[in-house]
Amino acid sequence: MKSEIDDILNKSTFSKEDLVKLLSADEQESRKIYERSKAVKAEQVGRKVYFRGLIEYSNYCSKNCLYCGIRAGNSRYIRYEMTDEEVMEAATYAFENKFASIVIQSGERNDRKFIDTIERLLKEIHRMSDGRLHVTLSLGEQTEETYRKWFAAGAHRYLLRIEVSNPDLYKKLHPADRHHDYNERLEALRRLRRAGYQVGTGVMIGLPFQTLSDLADDLIFFRDFDIDMAGMGPYIEHEDTPLYQFRNELLPLRERFLLSLKMVALLRIMMKDINIAATTAMQTIDPQGREKALLIGANVIMPNLTPVKYRQNYLLYENKPCLDEEAEECKSCLEARIALAGDEIGYGEWGDSKHFKRRTES
Ligand code: 5AD
Ligand code: SF4
Ligand code: FES
Repeated sequence: MKSEIDDILNKSTFSKEDLVKLLSADEQESRKIYERSKAVKAEQVGRKVYFRGLIEYSNYCSKNCLYCGIRAGNSRYIRYEMTDEEVMEAATYAFENKFASIVIQSGERNDRKFIDTIERLLKEIHRMSDGRLHVTLSLGEQTEETYRKWFAAGAHRYLLRIEVSNPDLYKKLHPADRHHDYNERLEALRRLRRAGYQVGTGVMIGLPFQTLSDLADDLIFFRDFDIDMAGMGPYIEHEDTPLYQFRNELLPLRERFLLSLKMVALLRIMMKDINIAATTAMQTIDPQGREKALLIGANVIMPNLTPVKYRQNYLLYENKPCLDEEAEECKSCLEARIALAGDEIGYGEWGDSKHFKRRTES
């Protein structure tokens, strides 16, 4: 039987109202969304999944986002910074295993030593791999000069989640000071674009105070900003954070997961040729969370390459998986999961966002 959902799915552009209806679809009707997003993925990006080896470089952070476990105000974790040798070892592992790409992520820091260390590591990785290992950075808000410096040193892509696209909601989730300013974050995304990066952003799903209307706006934000890559996942409460006090007002975990899947599927339908990550937070709720995300539209996955001794200190949220698994175990585990989803790994391929190519060539 033809339903309103079918009618909406047949439109070439979704309005905000359409998106709210799609996001409210029940399980039966959601299947129609997934069928469509699967078809778009198969046709536009194929069944290839690209590995981005994740290096959680340091948990020092100068910020205090109210949702995050490694916020500066949390004294429970031992703060660490990987040595150059450890970073190079992880990067070499990725290169030798034909990952073709790594992500260097850490808490946000703007000090000279940090900026110089990242620049030095980027140059060293470039030398080690003869420029063949691509690097994505996820190091927060920086000046345009820093973004340009890192780009010149060999970084290609940058991930900076807007976290939520509604400025009022942003205020509720961050301290009220100039270090946590929505407009500054938006400006940082624009700087990245100007500096030449493939730009990725994303949001958390199922946050306190967040509505379906906010999530519809998030999807429209991605479209309007014309992003190249996206990483979205469910919000998962963390006991040592101020936002934990609202834990009783959250959607049940299962619903947060299903909503996250729906967001991935809708984004795939709306932005057919971008790269979308199957995020680790999805697996925190559902043991097969990442496979499910791949099945309905995601095409990038991030095997963890952080030395195991640091992992329990990089807990942005609770119950994060892969705490004891070395790089090799995560690699084999993900190979099996990807095979289960019916996809194949693009070993030795950069897997650049097709959208970025089209955007920059036109
Ligand atoms: N739950 C889910 N994701 C979180 N992040 C930070 N804290 C949490 C949490 N409690 C996400 C943010 C950040 C990314 C690195 O991790 O979106 O951008
Ligand atoms: Fe720091 Fe990022 Fe966590 Fe905010 S989300 S506290 S910037 S690590
Ligand atoms: Fe790390 Fe499965 S991906 S153990």
